[in-house]
Amino acid sequence: MKQKLIFTNLVGEAIDGLIAELGNPQVAVVADTNTAALVLPILVNDSKAVADATVITIPAGDGSKSIEGLSELWQKLSDMEASRSTVVVNLGGGMIGDLGGFAAATYKRGLRCINVPTTLLAAVDASVGGKTAINFNGLKNQIGTFTEPVAAIISTIYFNTLSDQEILSGYAEMIKHALLEDDATLGKVLAFNPVSPLKNTVGLMPLLEASVDVKRRIVEEDLTEKGIRKALNFGHTIGHAFESFAAAAKSPIPHGYAVAWGMVAELVLSQMKKGFPSATLHSVAAYVRDNYGAFPITCDDYPALIASMRQDKKNASAEQINFTLLESTGHPVIDCTATPEEIGAALDIYRDLLGLA
Ligand SMILES: NC(=O)c1ccc[n+]([C@@H]2O[C@H](COP(=O)([O-])OP(=O)(O)OC[C@H]3O[C@@H](n4cnc5c(N)ncnc54)[C@H](O)[C@@H]3O)[C@@H](O)[C@H]2O)c1
Repeated sequence: MKQKLIFTNLVGEAIDGLIAELGNPQVAVVADTNTAALVLPILVNDSKAVADATVITIPAGDGSKSIEGLSELWQKLSDMEASRSTVVVNLGGGMIGDLGGFAAATYKRGLRCINVPTTLLAAVDASVGGKTAINFNGLKNQIGTFTEPVAAIISTIYFNTLSDQEILSGYAEMIKHALLEDDATLGKVLAFNPVSPLKNTVGLMPLLEASVDVKRRIVEEDLTEKGIRKALNFGHTIGHAFESFAAAAKSPIPHGYAVAWGMVAELVLSQMKKGFPSATLHSVAAYVRDNYGAFPITCDDYPALIASMRQDKKNASAEQINFTLLESTGHPVIDCTATPEEIGAALDIYRDLLGLA
């Protein structure tokens, strides 16, 4: 992985250092309306490069990760006469990272960019690994590239203005990374509460560094997701089905919550098909139940959920539903499949474990 990872709460200093290393180019800061109001003013004080930069503000929300949002961003880059040497600083959550990263990857065949993630989800996941994308035709991340940023500057200082729900949504990806690592890491993550007593951002930093390192190592081996990077999809096949089901019922759920619930169901499948240890499954399920509650489903919902899993873009064909499963903590098995009957049985146990049955 070419991307630098800088863990520091002195973000302004880190940006100025990088911009100087890059030869003091023209800088565009891409923010959304929330990060422009909440984070940018702090950074303008702390960084000369940001104070001198052209700021491009995009409406907050995933709706901006669209062809229209992209076109607006390209237009603003054009208005500021951005050249090949211009550096784009993505200041925001995963939406800004994906949209700003895609605009930078494609404008004049590629501008360099620096990610400054301001949500936990972006810090632990979206800002690392080079996936950029916009949504298209109602499908998430349908158009995109693998283009690594020059660096991600990862801090916890901006998390105080995030809701507990946003923090927990990002923390689900940290549980996933811990499941891909080892029992000791998982134990530390499950012993920590990121929203109590006061968002606990100090205790979060070492866990966050260890978590990003799991993703870094996997991406280093397989940037373009031909093999082991698929392990990062753990929890996402059923998680995405929960997310689509909730969206269709007009009561959307946060991505990380869907992943947390999806991981419980996929750990059940892992236990059924790969012998994943029951005790670990029960510990993760208890943490998820206590902190995320449960996504309420009945057996009448299974056909719609399974139909949605069949649509997953990671399937080789509509007949085969693809999963990453775990033999044990730290031992993922990619390219597994499960039948609708097996998925139904796993969802029965999911409901039981999360107190729905
Ligand atoms: N590229 C990848 O590898 C990758 C991985 C995971 C997710 N994603 C993408 O990331 C997006 C989700 O990321 P997200 O949850 O960060 O969403 P987001 O960027 O939409 O941020 C969520 C909300 O928090 C606000 N916000 C951001 N920082 C804030 C702060 N410090 N204080 C207060 N509010 C703040 C945003 O304005 C927004 O309203 C999705 O589009 C998803 O597809 C990409």
